[in-house]
Amino acid sequence: MRKLLPFMKKYILYAISSPILMILEVVADIIIPYLMSRIVDIGIANRDIDYIVKTGLIMVVAAIFGILFGVLSSHCGAKAGYGFAAEIRQVAFEKVQSFSFANLDQFSVSSLITRLTNDCNTIGQVTMMSLRMAVRAPFLMLFALIMAFNINASLAKVFMIAIPLLGIIITIVLSKARPLFIKMQSRVDRVNAITQENLTGIRVVKSFNRQKHEEGRFKERNDALRDTALKAISLVIFLFPVMNLVVYATIMAVLWFGGQQVTVGTMGGGELISFITYITQVLMALMLISFFFMQLLRGSASVKRIIEILNTETEIKEVSSPVKELKDGSIQYKNVSFRYPGSSERTLKNINIEIKSGEIVGIIGSTGSSKSTLVQLIPRLYDVTEGSILVGGRNVKEYDIKSLRDQVAFILQKNTLFSGTLRENMLWGKENASDEQIINALKLAQAWEFVSKYDDGLDHRVEQGGDNFSGGQKQRLSIARALLKSPKIIILDDSTSAVDMTTDAKIQKSLKEELGHITTFIIAQRISSIQHADKILVMHEGEIESYGNHEMLMKQSPIYQEIYISQQKGVIGE
Ligand SMILES: Nc1ncnc2c1ncn2[C@@H]1O[C@H](COP(=O)(O)OP(=O)(O)O)[C@@H](O)[C@H]1O
Ligand SMILES: [Mg+2]
Repeated sequence: MRKLLPFMKKYILYAISSPILMILEVVADIIIPYLMSRIVDIGIANRDIDYIVKTGLIMVVAAIFGILFGVLSSHCGAKAGYGFAAEIRQVAFEKVQSFSFANLDQFSVSSLITRLTNDCNTIGQVTMMSLRMAVRAPFLMLFALIMAFNINASLAKVFMIAIPLLGIIITIVLSKARPLFIKMQSRVDRVNAITQENLTGIRVVKSFNRQKHEEGRFKERNDALRDTALKAISLVIFLFPVMNLVVYATIMAVLWFGGQQVTVGTMGGGELISFITYITQVLMALMLISFFFMQLLRGSASVKRIIEILNTETEIKEVSSPVKELKDGSIQYKNVSFRYPGSSERTLKNINIEIKSGEIVGIIGSTGSSKSTLVQLIPRLYDVTEGSILVGGRNVKEYDIKSLRDQVAFILQKNTLFSGTLRENMLWGKENASDEQIINALKLAQAWEFVSKYDDGLDHRVEQGGDNFSGGQKQRLSIARALLKSPKIIILDDSTSAVDMTTDAKIQKSLKEELGHITTFIIAQRISSIQHADKILVMHEGEIESYGNHEMLMKQSPIYQEIYISQQKGVIGE
């Protein structure tokens, strides 16, 4: 919790005012029963109308102030609580933005969503309530106890039985509820996980007719959540009638003993009435305390989950005075090996290659042969496990990460567009690009041929994830977006797999002719996409099986020959 406290800084005034105002409300709550007893014992007993009216008016004023302070306190509490939560959410979101790919592998997306929404909300609510209850309960209890003892110390002995009794009941129930609340949180996570996975893949689910199966999986987790929630809640529900029972029993005892004192004349009737009110207040305060602890329980689980995000350090670190400018697009792998975090096997083994600036490098190999892994190391999406990678003659680790990624355009195998307009998506590549520059990039990527047909052109809407475009269209838009960066190195990871052969050939041609000075990596399934490359790497099980141009590989590489022959026959590839 201490780690989160700095986020309260902006709202500190509200966080302090809320409990102070709350104390004032408690004072009003305590004065009112006292005034009431005066009205009964002095005003009514002496038939003094003036006194009754005067004291009654003071009572009304106290009540109005009480309400006023109460409302203000709630308002300040809400501002502090939800402001605090918003602050934490913002910082956690920024932290997630700084996560490396390895960090993202570690947290699931659904769990991150739950943390940024549910958990932050819970922290806000709990803070709001804590600010008020943590002060209200003890003060109410203290003041009411003092008043009760003042009125009649001997009668106040009932507290000696009632308070410990309630304390024991509360402790037992809370200790039983605690593990249930923690369990509930992880069950919520499981339901969120399956909801998220299913909804992102809903089209696949439908096309495979797996709805029934998915409903079953969902039901199982949903039921588990319901059962745990029910168990936890029934414990809490049980708490209230039992507490009420104790409260009423205490009132009965007070009426019994106090009633005798009133008949004898050692206690005023008004005093007895206000005494009962104070008893209710003391016991209410105890209930509030129990409720407060329950809230804390809920909050502490959420705090823990947020702290986990904030404490995650990205292992992709920058050196103290990083280089900003890439000299050229040359690349050298020196004895590079790579293992995914958490995996025992090396995914890349002893890679040694040298690529001159401006060369076109094709990479081919079966799926899982580590083609994507090989190129992900250049913009430091992951760091090498052993060896080093030089870009423009310097180790990638010496560069400022932002500059490196600006100059190395990477079109991910699983690329997406974001909701907004086409123009907005293109501006990701270059913030201040003119429409002409955008159109030029679209033309190079062979995307202008379909974009130019839209009535609204660059203002055309892009739905979330780019779902209103075909796979091949999305790929071409992604290429255009990357080209706008005018990078020194461009990496196309299977970026034309969904584009027809003719268009693919046009893209390859324009990349070669227009972007001769840019080092280009083309990962492809089709030999035709990389045939023209200066160099072709044939990947096999994390190693470079052979390395050369098309003609050389046709003579030397059995794997390359096999791929070539199979594609000539049209078995694989299309
Ligand atoms: N994020 C990841 N965490 C752990 N293992 C991974 C991850 N991504 C890929 N791998 C593993 O690394 C190997 C190479 O994957 P990849 O480079 O994507 O192959 P390709 O692009 O050639 O199809 C595969 O065996 C895959 O299971
Ligand atoms: Mg791949």
